[in-house]
Amino acid sequence: MSTSYLSGFGNHFATEALEGALPVGRNSPQKVAYGLYAEQFSSTAFTAPRAENRRTWMYRIRPSVLHRPFEAMPAGAFHNRFDEVPPTPNQLRWSPRPLPQAPTDFVEGLFTVAGNGSPAAHSGVGIHVYTANRDMDGRWFYDADGELLIVPQLGRLRIRTELGTLEVEPQQIAVIPRGLRFAVDLPDGEARGYVCENFGIALRLPDLGPIGANGLANPRDFETPVAAYEDREGDFALVAKFQGRLWRAAIGHSPCDVVAWHGNSAPYRYDLRRFNTIGSISFDHPDPSIFTVLTAPSDTHGTANMDFAIFPPRWLVAQDTFRPPWFHRNVASEFMGLVHGAYDAKAEGFVPGAASLHNCMSGHGPDAATFEKASNADLSKPDVIADTMAFMFETRGVLCPTAQAMDAPERQADYFECWQGLRRHFDPAAR
Ligand SMILES: [Fe+2]
Repeated sequence: MSTSYLSGFGNHFATEALEGALPVGRNSPQKVAYGLYAEQFSSTAFTAPRAENRRTWMYRIRPSVLHRPFEAMPAGAFHNRFDEVPPTPNQLRWSPRPLPQAPTDFVEGLFTVAGNGSPAAHSGVGIHVYTANRDMDGRWFYDADGELLIVPQLGRLRIRTELGTLEVEPQQIAVIPRGLRFAVDLPDGEARGYVCENFGIALRLPDLGPIGANGLANPRDFETPVAAYEDREGDFALVAKFQGRLWRAAIGHSPCDVVAWHGNSAPYRYDLRRFNTIGSISFDHPDPSIFTVLTAPSDTHGTANMDFAIFPPRWLVAQDTFRPPWFHRNVASEFMGLVHGAYDAKAEGFVPGAASLHNCMSGHGPDAATFEKASNADLSKPDVIADTMAFMFETRGVLCPTAQAMDAPERQADYFECWQGLRRHFDPAAR
């Protein structure tokens, strides 16, 4: 099945799977067409300023209140326990998490790596990787704790949401609003990727300042699905994530039963290959914030709860410049992953599916091999970095790794070795 999409970021969309299902001129008529129920889905306070306000009206077969009581599920690998082990100042890196042997769906396959803040305070993030090999059949999920930014690395995802179906492949992303119900199918039979669970204010496009009216991620390249509904009854399950724990309720129908909707709180996808990459055409290179795709502001102006940045294919032409990323320490904390190809600051060890974490004020930068190569490169010729797609979840708060991430066999205990070959070049007699 292919799906249709509406173009634009944060628009006030209107879509109906049955003609005439959407009320005209009002939101909650006495009787909705086709015997549907009206329900509002509020993602911001009712009173949030108009430019910030996000809400959607759904016209559905049954209202979302209809399910049996939730019961707590046994604790698994998907949680928000960020205080289990003292966070380390060491640089951390993990090899790709192996695909599961046992049948595992998208939610069962979520493994929490790190996080900060708290869903109760609506601040901070959870960072997870997922590995899965079966569809969510008869099982739906919603996350009351945060908005989900899903970054596939292996295998396509078909995400059936209350508001329509999103199909994404590696080098695309999907964003699911906090609380929206959905199920994930795996058209390729298996999948792996990364998830940032944003407890804070919803992601939006960054301001462009002197860049102007165009550039970076352009609004029209964001795609929201048209309304599509499932009219299914059976012995199904609805799984909720609430305050760091999973809960399960029996439900007798598919919760993806919204026949029509209008509003601006909706899931969307974006193809990272459409990102308009901007960089230096003279010397040095800009701070990596120039690669920001989406940002979730905090209460501190200019300091995001989280930023999502990518390192896409691009030309490097800067003169008298060390062209790879520079050595760096940062008050913010940086979780990186690689979706495709190779990353230009690391010669080896950081393969697609791997992850690294450089926390507040921990030094990081190119490895010794990359430094030697770039320091002696011929700058009369441009370099092209092709066939790559790395990304970063950057957060204002310290990212605290979970115990399971610190103990994981994929953790590369020898990561620090990649810098040990950095030689002394200093010679006070030479200029
Ligand atoms: Fe950095």
